Amino acid sequence: MHRSAPSSRELLAIALDVARAAAATAYRMRVEGVSVAATKSTVTDVVTAADRAVERQVLDALRQLRPDDAVLGEEYGTGDTGPVAPGGVRWIVDPIDGTVNYLYGLPYSAVSLAAEVDGVVVAGVVRNVSTGEEWTATAGGGAWRDGVRLRCSGEADLGQALVGTGFGYAADRRAHQATVVAGLIAHVRDIRRLGAAALDLCLVAEGRLDAYFEKGLAAWDLAAGGLVAAEAGVRVAGLAGRPPGPDLVVAAPPALFAPLHDRLAELDAAGGP
Ligand code: IPD
Ligand code: CA
Ligand code: CA
Repeated sequence: MHRSAPSSRELLAIALDVARAAAATAYRMRVEGVSVAATKSTVTDVVTAADRAVERQVLDALRQLRPDDAVLGEEYGTGDTGPVAPGGVRWIVDPIDGTVNYLYGLPYSAVSLAAEVDGVVVAGVVRNVSTGEEWTATAGGGAWRDGVRLRCSGEADLGQALVGTGFGYAADRRAHQATVVAGLIAHVRDIRRLGAAALDLCLVAEGRLDAYFEKGLAAWDLAAGGLVAAEAGVRVAGLAGRPPGPDLVVAAPPALFAPLHDRLAELDAAGGP
């Protein structure tokens, strides 16, 4: 049966409440001390007690507020929510994006929470756990940081562009990603590897990075930050007209997109393991 979804503004209001409380928990647990609870895909792909506690808190809060919605989270997956009915809402959560930074006490990790309706992300919030900086967006409603509407960089020259990227956790993938960076670095102003994809996308939204690309992102890395970037005028896409996804995410202002995209295609940035 078709249900009518709440407006994107209503979904954002819920996301904000839930993400702020979640970020407060992550902050408190960081102050109390962090250790590795387990590893996932490789020995460097860690999960801390905070990753789990924060996602559990988000799931519990959403179950209270929106009991019929589905949730996709990094640590606990989809749970028993089942398929999403037409008009239904699915929440996408990365409880801590930038877990390695979080583990090392580097102030660049975030809670990322987005709401999707019929497969389209319509609201998202990314909140830096350490600084409290908070980026939000609704589909068609613009991208904002702490009350200021965001617009991406106007840079059109790849040679002048500060470009963010990230690396996966598997050694063979990282080796291929390093060859891509080696082939790009002489053609741009510089490269940044800051360590939290959701925040990287938000920095592109406000021109603190000119562009960003990465292979291997999951839905929870991309959902909220991708909407923030797109609503700030950033083109967020894959290679050769494909949608952004695990193969590759390229996020760049319209004038910079083609030169960056073409260089990444030459370097086979979506290829490799
Ligand atoms: C990772 C970070 C990192 C990116 C990786 C992601 P996690 O997420 O966003 O910057 O390069 O691809 O997996 O594991 O810290 O949630
Ligand atoms: Ca992540
Ligand atoms: Ca994470």
